[in-house]
Amino acid sequence: MKWFVVFLIFLSMKMLSLHSAPSTSTAHNSGTLLTGLDRVKDWENMAPGVWRARIGDSEKELSYTDLAARSPRMEALNRLPEVPFPFAKEPVSSLCNDGLVHVRIPCGADESIYGFGLQLDGINKSRRVLDLNVDHWARGGGRTHAPVPFYISSKGYGVFFNTARFIKVHAQVGNRKDSPNNPTPVDRNPPPQEPAKGPWMAQPPGDAVEVNLRGQGVEVVVFSGKNLLDIVSRYNLFCGGGAMPPLWGLGFWHRVPASFNAEQSTKEVEEFAAQDMPLDVLGLEPGWMTRSYPCTFEWQKHRFPDPAGFTKAMFERGVRLNLWENPYVSPEGKLHKSLEPLSGSHMVWLGIVPDLMLPEARQLLCKHHADEHVSIGVSGYKIDEVDGYDQWLWPEHAVFPSGTPAESMRQAYGLLWQKMLLEELFRESNTRTWSLVRSSNGAASGMPFTLYSDSYNHAEYITGLSAASLSGILWSPEVRGAGSAAEWLARIQTVCFSPLAMLNAWASATKPWEFPEVTDQVRAAIHLRMRLLPYLYAAFADYNQKGIPPIRAMILEEAAPTPVVQKADEELDDVNNPYADGGIRIIEQNDQFMFGPSILVAPYYGDKSQKREVRLPKGDWYDFYTGEFVGNGSSIEVATPERTPLFVKDGAVIPMLAKAINNTRNAYGHPLEVRHYGKSSGSFALYEDDGNSFNYENGEFGIRELSFVDGKGSEAIAKSGPRLFGDVSSWVQMGN
Ligand code: GAL
Repeated sequence: MKWFVVFLIFLSMKMLSLHSAPSTSTAHNSGTLLTGLDRVKDWENMAPGVWRARIGDSEKELSYTDLAARSPRMEALNRLPEVPFPFAKEPVSSLCNDGLVHVRIPCGADESIYGFGLQLDGINKSRRVLDLNVDHWARGGGRTHAPVPFYISSKGYGVFFNTARFIKVHAQVGNRKDSPNNPTPVDRNPPPQEPAKGPWMAQPPGDAVEVNLRGQGVEVVVFSGKNLLDIVSRYNLFCGGGAMPPLWGLGFWHRVPASFNAEQSTKEVEEFAAQDMPLDVLGLEPGWMTRSYPCTFEWQKHRFPDPAGFTKAMFERGVRLNLWENPYVSPEGKLHKSLEPLSGSHMVWLGIVPDLMLPEARQLLCKHHADEHVSIGVSGYKIDEVDGYDQWLWPEHAVFPSGTPAESMRQAYGLLWQKMLLEELFRESNTRTWSLVRSSNGAASGMPFTLYSDSYNHAEYITGLSAASLSGILWSPEVRGAGSAAEWLARIQTVCFSPLAMLNAWASATKPWEFPEVTDQVRAAIHLRMRLLPYLYAAFADYNQKGIPPIRAMILEEAAPTPVVQKADEELDDVNNPYADGGIRIIEQNDQFMFGPSILVAPYYGDKSQKREVRLPKGDWYDFYTGEFVGNGSSIEVATPERTPLFVKDGAVIPMLAKAINNTRNAYGHPLEVRHYGKSSGSFALYEDDGNSFNYENGEFGIRELSFVDGKGSEAIAKSGPRLFGDVSSWVQMGN
């Protein structure tokens, strides 16, 4: 008999329920141990809700926290409430054998597993096998620009495998014969007279997240908290807190075609001004160098005869320069000779690969970058091609002079570049950077680098914003081109609600006014981003100090039901569907996300470029533009493609610049309009610092508390410090 039944394996995610065993800092001894596995004991309680265990010789491995921007923010973690250890009942177990390390984390069939980095095909990774290898996105299966080995469970905990090794994950896939939780087998072809005992499942759910890797050991860090946002925040704090952008980094970015020279670039900047289009950062692509692929990191004097003069002239217009580069050093470059003995055995694009584990290699690179770029005012870099996997990067048998395994180098190379540029270049000159990188990994939350990709699916680009928020990374759904005016506008609207609002015209030569019929709306979208700078900057301060991602997946906002569905007994087909299982379908909605503390963004995209559905979480929600009530826990339809659908929580207070500006230097001292939405009282902690240096790390920042009570706004100084924005010029009760 055929089943055409679609049945739910997991009906809906239950309310987050935490395990109830008491918290302790040592061994947890209850639960059944499966054959041949060792109980992971000696969980060290490092801070409230953070436990660490070392399996095998984990100290001999390169761990991601070794490369974090800062050490764990213990003071912030220690202020958080204690929560119980999540694996007190069922033990975490491991096996180290013949260089293979295996860790088994118990996990119920009813749990949803989220995360593992920049997985652009969806955030729910339940019942999947993933290879966590740095790679281009297109390879899929776990391989991505940032395969962060950190996941969170709907049950209320997170697990981080803190090692720069390829990791294979079997998330609820696989059934051990000695497990007490296996489902009962069902006959796939029962005789006609027998009553069916239930649907046969091609993939019976497993009861663990099992991982394996080759190495000497692994450090496992477990996080718990009151909800998923709390867990992710603790992870970010453990990794040193979130990155704090310079204010200019949040302005609009434009990258010019790879062959552009100084004159063409200047003309482009002038056109932005003539078009009344915001611009803060101009990105130069490979042609700025004498040689690229492999690179010299030296100015191409035919195109840029006077780099210092050009950089200065740009800066006088308020425009900073971001330089593209990949790390592979050309034999024609000045750096080649001295870096040659400090590089790996294999080349990339016939350029040598500097071993960044060696301080001498980093010093040579940083001195060059300081002398030739940063000293004349270059504000940051786009570190390309650090994500290539087998086809492009070095093989696993490559040898590096520091003795770092080639595999770990591949997993961590993007991180190593970020760490070097942050610590040994920008921090040295006490100037913040906001830069780009094409690969990252664990413990990266403090890195002022945003990821991007050569892939270009708009829906996936929106998903990336949610995915990144679960793993301490930042993602830019950059705009390059579009097949229609509607797509162009929708993509620009999306990128304006991301950590880095950029048009990357390196090959397309597009400009924001590419489709004249929507130029006014494009300008309005970018202007709105500029007006929201005070709000966004404060959201980043929360990332930095409290670990709260500034742009967040909806599951961090509410315990959203995200059922895992298995389509059973679909049409049998001996070529295309021999198991008649239809595959595991994960139903989730990643096309909306939170921007800062109180704005829900639901961008238009794909065939939803004119009209779409928005799911509003529980609580009263208001239209950002009009202040009108729109719903509570309901789904609504919007059809206003001329502007990004934005919805605001009841009681939200939103500080904005009173008028749109075209460059962040005009934000300094700019008067504020403070809006209030809905009926409840609310407040907003407006964070301010000098906008550019690292002095905020020494407490040089101020907080103005902006409150609305009974429809009346008021301001109080919560912490005195530098002022960035101007006075409040208007308090607006929206909807009135
Ligand atoms: C690609 C990169 C593009 C562009 C191009 C220049 O690898 O993803 O954004 O920079 O290189 O050659």
